[in-house]
Formats: sequence, C-alpha cells, structure tokens
Amino acid sequence: MKLGVSITLLVALFLTLAMLFRAGWERPPMQSEQLGFRGLGMVEIDNPRTQAARAPLNQLPDVVPAVPAGGPAAASVYKNVQVLNDLSVGEFTRLMVAMTSWVSPQEGCNYCHNPSGLAADVPAKVIARRMLQMTRHVNADWKSHVADTGVTCFTCHRGQPVPSNLWYADPGSAHGSRFAGNRAGQNAPATSVGLASLPGDPFSQFLTKGGEEIRVQSTAALPAGRGNSIQQTEATYGLMMHISKSLGTNCTFCHNTRSFFDWDASTPQRATAWHGIRMVRDLNANYLEPLAGKYPEGRMGPLGDAPKLDCATCHQGEHKPLAGASMLKDYPALASVGKVAQAAPAPEPIVVGETVIIFFAVDSAALHDAAPKTLELLIVKLKANPKAKATVSGYHSATGDAARNQELAKSRAMAVQGALKSAGIAEDRVVLEKPLAEQANVAGEDPKARRVEVVVK
Ligand code: HEC
Ligand code: HEC
Ligand code: HEC
Ligand code: HEC
Repeated sequence: MKLGVSITLLVALFLTLAMLFRAGWERPPMQSEQLGFRGLGMVEIDNPRTQAARAPLNQLPDVVPAVPAGGPAAASVYKNVQVLNDLSVGEFTRLMVAMTSWVSPQEGCNYCHNPSGLAADVPAKVIARRMLQMTRHVNADWKSHVADTGVTCFTCHRGQPVPSNLWYADPGSAHGSRFAGNRAGQNAPATSVGLASLPGDPFSQFLTKGGEEIRVQSTAALPAGRGNSIQQTEATYGLMMHISKSLGTNCTFCHNTRSFFDWDASTPQRATAWHGIRMVRDLNANYLEPLAGKYPEGRMGPLGDAPKLDCATCHQGEHKPLAGASMLKDYPALASVGKVAQAAPAPEPIVVGETVIIFFAVDSAALHDAAPKTLELLIVKLKANPKAKATVSGYHSATGDAARNQELAKSRAMAVQGALKSAGIAEDRVVLEKPLAEQANVAGEDPKARRVEVVVK
C-alpha cells in the first residue's frame, strides 16, 4: 500500500516536472483580456515578462532633426533623382541620413553609394530606390491596412540591410523513391508554422501573385476540385499559424472558433488582416520579385527566387509593428507617392510617321514603362541596317528655370540613349542632337512638350 502511494507520488512529481520543462509552457504571471462576448473563450493572453523581453526590439531610433521648409528642389541640384524629385535639398538630405540609420547604420552611406560619385547607380541603390517607391505605395495606397500609422524602412529593416524575416519558395523534398509519395511539405517541422506538422511553405501558395483562396469551409454543396482538398485545408492552417505567430497572438484575436469561416462572428482585426494579405501579395509580386537579379551573390532562394516578405517582416511578434508607434509622422516625405509625378503622369509614348515620341513627367527624366516596347520597331530597323543611326533630341516645357530645363532635356535624351544601348544598339550609333527650339509650347506646363523624339537616319 505504502509502496503504491510512493509510486503514485513519484509519477505525479515526474509529470509536474516534465510539464515545467516542456516546450511551449510559459511561467506565469499571465494576463488575459476578453475580446468577444463572455463565454466564447475569445481572450488574448499575454505575459508581462515576455512583453518586457520584446521591448528592445521596439526601441525607436532617434528622430533626425527637422529642416526648415523651402530651398531648392533636390532634383535641380543633384543629377540622378528619380523618385524623391518632389523634395527640397534639405528634406532629401535629412531622409538620406534617416535611411542610413534605419538600414545601414554600421556601413553608412556607402552601403548604397559609390563614394566616388553619389549619382552612380550601384545595385544596392537601385534596390533602395524601388524600396522608396514601395514604402510610399504602402503608406499612400494601403491605408486599409497600415492606417495613418504607416511604415518606414525601419519597420522592416530595424538597423540592418537585410530584414530578419523573409521567405523563399521551398523546394520541398524529393519524393520519387519513397512509398509515402508526396507528403506535401509535411512532417518536416518548420518554424514558419509553429513547428506543427503542417506544410512548411504556406507562403508560395497564398502570399504572392495570383494567391489562391484561403478557404477551408466550402461555399458549395458537394465541393470538388482544387481548393476543397485536405491539402488546401492544411496549407490554410499553416498560413494561420504563421499569421498568429507573426502577430504574437492566437486564433481568437481574429476568429470566434465556433466558426472560423463566419465574418459576422469575427473581430474587426480579421478585416485588417484580410487587407494585409492582399497588401503582401501586391508587394511581393510587384516590388520584391521583380528585383531578382539585382541582389548580391548568394542572396537568392534555393529555387533562384528573390527574397520576399510576410506578416512577420513588419510585425515581428507584435499586434501592430513597433507596438503601434508611428514613425511616419516625422517623415512625411515617405507618406505620399511623389506629389509632382502624381499630378502630371507622363502620357504613353507614341509613333508619328518615322518618329518615336516618348513623353516625360514634370521635372523627370525617368522613362515611361511602355518606352522600350514603343522603341522596338526602331530597334529592329537599326539592327537590320548596320549603317543607320538614330538621332535623339530632348525637349522640355516652358515652365521652370531655363538652365535647369536644358539639363533636363539632355538627361531625357540620355535616358533614351541608355534604353537603346541596353537593347543592344552601340552607343556610337545613337546621336544626341540638340533641337533648334527645345520647347514646343511657349507658356505653361504642356505634357506634350516634355518629350524625346527618336528618328532613324
Ligand atoms: C539605403 C540606401 C541609401 C543610403 C544608406 C544612402 N542613400 Fe543616398 N540615395 C539613395 C537612393 C535610392 C538615391 C536616389 C533617390 C532617387 O532616385 O529619388 C540616393 C541619392 C542620393 C543623392 C543624390 C545623388 C545625385 O546626384 O543624384 C545624394 C547627394 C545622396 N543620396 C546622399 C547620401 C548621403 C550623404 C548618405 C549618407 C548620410 C546617403 N545618401 C545614404 C540611397 C541611399
Ligand atoms: C515592407 C518591408 C520593407 C520596407 C518598408 C523596406 N524594405 Fe528594404 N528590403 C525588404 C526586403 C524583404 C528586402 C530583401 C532582403 C534582401 O536583400 O535579401 C529588402 C532589401 C533592401 C536592400 C538591399 C539589401 C541587400 O544588400 O540585399 C536595401 C538597400 C533596402 N532594402 C533599403 C530600403 C530602404 C531605403 C527602405 C525605405 C525607403 C526600405 N528598404 C523599406 C523589405 C522592406
Ligand atoms: C490576424 C487575424 C487572424 C488570425 C490571428 C487567425 N486568422 Fe484565420 N483567417 C483570417 C483571415 C483574414 C481569413 C480569410 C482569408 C482570406 O479570405 O483571404 C482567415 C481564414 C481562416 C480559415 C478559413 C475559413 C474559411 O472561409 O473556410 C480558417 C479555418 C482559419 N482562418 C483558421 C485559423 C486558425 C486555426 C487560427 C489560429 C492558429 C487563425 N485562423 C488565426 C485571419 C486570422
Ligand atoms: C508593410 C508592413 C506590414 C505588413 C507586411 C503587414 N502588416 Fe499588419 N499592420 C501594419 C501596420 C503599420 C499596422 C498598424 C495599423 C494601425 O495603426 O491601425 C498593422 C496592423 C495589423 C492588424 C491590426 C492589429 C490591431 O491591433 O488592430 C492586423 C490584424 C494585422 N496588421 C495583420 C497582418 C497580417 C495577417 C499580415 C500578413 C498577411 C500583415 N499584417 C502584414 C503593417 C504591416
């Protein structure tokens, strides 16, 4: 009898100790906050101790002191300003200093610049320029997710050139020779899905271009086909584990677990998350994936794809990134998509007779996206006829500083020369010809005046 009691006690002691040392067990104190109606188990559990441990990650960098408004435009002082052409020199320089502290505090300006010439486009600068566009796009066009809190480079970078949380397509394991066949990414515990036996790469399927429907519950009777399989269900749960982990929360932050599907029973945060999923798809498909080939050696994924972002890239374990702090209010330059460029976008390039005409935005020498396509016929002609030369003439509108405008007309012509060169036409076959009259209109900001004309002679 006595022996029986001792054994029971020993087992109980062993189980208690085992529980204390098990992964996933957290030492109290725990705090819970009720999110839904009582009795639904919709509570948010947090621990002040782990909260305090996360605090250093949310430490904000010092704000770079504001500069007086006004002064010359950065685009008129520097040679190669394509995105920040709506800023004054003072605001431009302030942003460069801030960007350095957010992205490359150790490496300094030279992480993105060639010290012998700040205007030169080195790969890191080309990436950073696209990042500037991406950041402005998030703040201007994804308010449904980031509200007025917005993001800066620091939200993702936190003082390092390569953000901590990225993903690549997972090549999976070879499965040809095994009886089990395709295990759909399972049984290979991945931190991305909380070490659960769920597909380790829920991202490729859901978080980029053409992302699939994130659905478990069918909306039709007797569902068949893709999107209604167990595989789809497991991938959905994988993504949900990632979302919960990235936000440092649990499923009831967004769902009433009585019905995961039901939007009426979900919290408002689920709607914010819905927009977040669409935002991440947009950023990966339109900003990060096209940067493939621009990164330094060894930065690509096992399948050669570019690094991509997910919910953790910004959130890093918090419901709101940086515990809800807004850095954007101190850097309005990152809040809008370039005022100037937005007010007067460049018209599409056109062909008139033998001449290709490419238009430009106000105060910009950046080529229209459709320019290479419009130049194609000319390029074919030049390649078929090795003696022919292309003459390129740049024009500007009548507003603005005359000397600066002449520079601008020349930069525009040079941008087109660059496009022809990258299409394989030797530089010496492209003649820059100064037109007799550089402006087409005599007064005002005529979009048809800001152009380059190309003819084959
Ligand atoms: C994280 C990358 C990054 C860092 C770090 C950086 N820059 Fe830049 N810099 C850029 C980009 C991108 C542009 C082009 C902006 C555009 O096209 O609108 C640029 C352009 C410039 C230009 C204009 C050059 C020209 O003639 O066109 C100057 C000047 C400049 N930066 C100065 C600095 C200084 C000074 C520092 C350090 C305090 C710095 N930058 C740090 C990315 C960076
Ligand atoms: C939403 C998240 C996000 C924001 C905001 C963001 N970045 Fe990035 N950035 C990334 C990701 C993801 C990469 C790819 C990581 C890599 O380079 O391997 C990256 C890469 C870069 C790189 C290339 C680093 C290298 O050497 O590979 C530079 C430079 C950079 N970002 C600058 C900036 C600047 C400047 C800003 C602000 C204007 C900014 N980023 C804003 C996510 C972000
Ligand atoms: C931050 C909010 C958030 C958290 C946390 C979250 N989800 Fe979701 N969940 C969503 C959103 C948004 C959708 C709908 C996605 C869509 O339609 O694009 C969704 C969809 C689902 C669906 C599919 C419902 C259907 O229509 O068939 C299931 C199942 C689900 N979540 C389960 C979970 C589980 C389990 C957890 C915890 C591990 C969890 N979710 C955590 C936001 C969240
Ligand atoms: C570009 C950075 C960025 C990315 C990537 C991002 N978020 Fe957010 N998210 C934010 C910001 C900023 C806020 C705060 C907005 C505010 O202040 O209301 C936020 C807020 C939220 C909230 C509301 C939290 C609350 O307490 O009300 C949810 C839920 C959320 N995000 C889910 C997601 C999910 C899910 C993903 C991935 C699919 C994601 N986010 C990706 C920047 C991001």
